[in-house]
Amino acid sequence: MAHRVNLPALIVHGGAGGRAAIDERPGRQRGLLAAVEAGARILRDGGDALDTVCAAVTMLENDPLFNAGYGSCLTSDGHVEMDAGVATARRANTSPGGRRRFEICAGGVVLVSRVRNPILLARAVMERTPHLLMGGGGVERLARDAGLRLCRPASMVAPRALKRWQAAQRDTQADVQHGTVGAVAIDRAGNFAAATSTGGVAGKLPGRIGDSAILGAGLYANERGASSATGHGEAILRAALSREAVERLRAMPAQRVAELVIARMARYAQGEAGIIVVDASGRFGFAHNAAAMEIATFAPTAGSRHLLAPRIGVV
Ligand code: GLY
Repeated sequence: MAHRVNLPALIVHGGAGGRAAIDERPGRQRGLLAAVEAGARILRDGGDALDTVCAAVTMLENDPLFNAGYGSCLTSDGHVEMDAGVATARRANTSPGGRRRFEICAGGVVLVSRVRNPILLARAVMERTPHLLMGGGGVERLARDAGLRLCRPASMVAPRALKRWQAAQRDTQADVQHGTVGAVAIDRAGNFAAATSTGGVAGKLPGRIGDSAILGAGLYANERGASSATGHGEAILRAALSREAVERLRAMPAQRVAELVIARMARYAQGEAGIIVVDASGRFGFAHNAAAMEIATFAPTAGSRHLLAPRIGVV
């Protein structure tokens, strides 16, 4: 059956984890809608999927209500260590046999503490180096070369994150958040992009690296679609969640794919996670097995919308 193509399309998530405090819900909703609108403006003007997901994720990194960039949760010793990744699948010239070809590119950064928008640094890895994943002093040199300002690590500690960390020192149950932010898009030309950025899991050991920068785990894109994951990095890594989602678009609709891969992750990797997916027709999929996951979507017919994604049934 032929599917209606509804391009361009963008879906953004604000992390799967505990339900936000009541007084923070309106701000988070506004933040997600602002992020999806920032991306939608680019798509409406005929812009590129990569610019779109970077614009959306940058907005969320700047918002202290989300666990990424300036809002990042803190390590067990009270510092910010962020991971981020971008991936694209771009239409290349048609091959001699007439088959459409896609070029897949990616970049990721880990343990970043001196750059306000790690997603832009991940993009610099993709666009300015032959590498896929970077961290340490070299990535700070790259930030300078790419014109990204280095800041003092302490300036990345938002008052909200510090308060939560201090509460967790008194009560180890106090900060159980494990959100992340992410966006996936397809532009009018049919190019896909995915972006994922995180402060990681609250109270993590210094030096711990999660899934968000890892191609195939925290994000993925190929000629079938793009995906971004959120939740327990260890479970997402074990499940290679984002790659599994995009590969399964070959056989089933995006929403079914999202539900299936989360159910399989829960069964085999026993974690809490969420995923967003977009396919070549601009159809979305989203699913999670955590307490909550908020998303925002943009499509030409429906415009921008905010949603609390339903938790998948227990399997
Ligand atoms: N999913 C984010 C992390 O585990 O680091």
